[in-house]
Amino acid sequence: MDTAGNRIKLGLFGASHAECVGFTLSGLGEGFAIDFDELRRGLIRRSAASHPFATGRHEADDLIIESGLDNGVTTGETIRFSFPNRAHRSGDYGLIARPSHADYAAFMKYGAAADIAGGGKFSGRMTLPLTAAGEICRQYLRRYGVEVFAHVLAIGGLRDERFDPVSPKIPEGDGLFPLLNEGMRGPMLALIEKTREAGDTLSCEAECAVTGVPAGVGEPLFDGVEGTLSRLLFMIPGLRGVDFGDIMEYGSETNDQFTEGGNTATNRSGGVNGGMANGMPIVFRARFRPVPSIGLPQTGFDLTEKKPVPLTISGRHDTCILPRGLAAVEAAAAIGILDLILMGE
Ligand SMILES: Cc1cc2nc3c(=O)[nH]c(=O)nc-3n(C[C@H](O)[C@H](O)[C@H](O)COP(=O)(O)O)c2cc1C
Repeated sequence: MDTAGNRIKLGLFGASHAECVGFTLSGLGEGFAIDFDELRRGLIRRSAASHPFATGRHEADDLIIESGLDNGVTTGETIRFSFPNRAHRSGDYGLIARPSHADYAAFMKYGAAADIAGGGKFSGRMTLPLTAAGEICRQYLRRYGVEVFAHVLAIGGLRDERFDPVSPKIPEGDGLFPLLNEGMRGPMLALIEKTREAGDTLSCEAECAVTGVPAGVGEPLFDGVEGTLSRLLFMIPGLRGVDFGDIMEYGSETNDQFTEGGNTATNRSGGVNGGMANGMPIVFRARFRPVPSIGLPQTGFDLTEKKPVPLTISGRHDTCILPRGLAAVEAAAAIGILDLILMGE
C-alpha cells in the first residue's frame, strides 16, 4: 500500500523515472499557514546537490502545489504536491537485476510491467515527497511544542556521540551533516571519499529525538509509538533496523527510576512504555545498509534470459544514505507523532 496514517492520511505517488513524484496529505484542517522557506530548507538537506559525495543525479526538486492551499494556507481539502523528475537517465538501467536492490523482487511481483529504471518506486527519490509532507507535519507539531531532530550517528565503523537521552539538544549548524562531536566530521568525510573512490558504499546510522510529546500519546496494541513510527520509517529504502532506547543486560540497569513530576533520571525506555509516550524524549536509532549499487564487479541476474550474469554498475549513485536520508527520518517521525497526537484528541 502506498498510504499510511489514521487521522493524518499520507499517500505517496510516482516513481524515480516517472513524470513526477508527489504526495497527498489530509487531516490538518483549514487555516494552517505553511512556511515554505522552512519547507524548502528541509528539501535542500535531502537534495543530492547539497552533498558532494552523493549521487550525480541533481534534481531541482521544483515543487508544484496541486491542491489544498490558498496563498500557502490550508483550505481543509487534501493537500497535493508534485515534483517533476527531470534529471533521470533511464538508459543507465538495463533488464539486469542489481544484487540486493529491489529490482529482482519487483520483477517477480510485477513481471514485465515492473518499473525498475532508477529503482522505480523503490528509489531514494521517493523520500522527497515523504520529506515535504513531513516538513509540513513538523511545522504543525510546533502547536504542541513538539520538536523533531536527528544527527548522523555512524558512517561505516565511525561513530558520533549519542544524544543525552534525558535532554537531547538540536545539533548546531545548517543541518546538512549534523554531528554532536564535530571532531568526527573530517574522518567521516575522508572515509566516504575513500570508499567512493574505491567504487564501494557504506552503512550508516541516524539517531533521532522527538521532544515535547505528552505522556499517554500512542494507542494500545497496533497503533503504539514504536509501531507507528516504524511503519513510516521502513518506507525509507535501505533502512534495515529501528531501535528505541537501550536494552541493558539486567533489569536493574535498564529500568528508569522516577523523579519529581513523573520524569525519570535515565531514559533507557527511549521515551516509550507500552507503546505510549511516557513524557521523556522519544529517542530512536535508524540503521541503513550500504547503498546496493556499488561500482565493483558483481553478479547480477538477467531478467530476460533468467540467469546470473557479470555486472558492473556504472550509473550515478550515493556512497551512503546519510546524511541525505536524515530529513526523511525526521519526516517519518513527525508524521507518525502528529497522527498519534491527533488520534488521542
Ligand atoms: C536518500 C536515499 C538515496 C539512495 N540512493 C541510492 C543509490 O544511489 N543507489 C542505490 O542503489 N540505492 C540507493 N538507495 C537505497 C535503495 O533505494 C534501496 O537499498 C533499495 O530500494 C532496496 O531496498 P532495501 O535496501 O530497503 O531492501 C538510496 C536510499 C535513500 C533513502
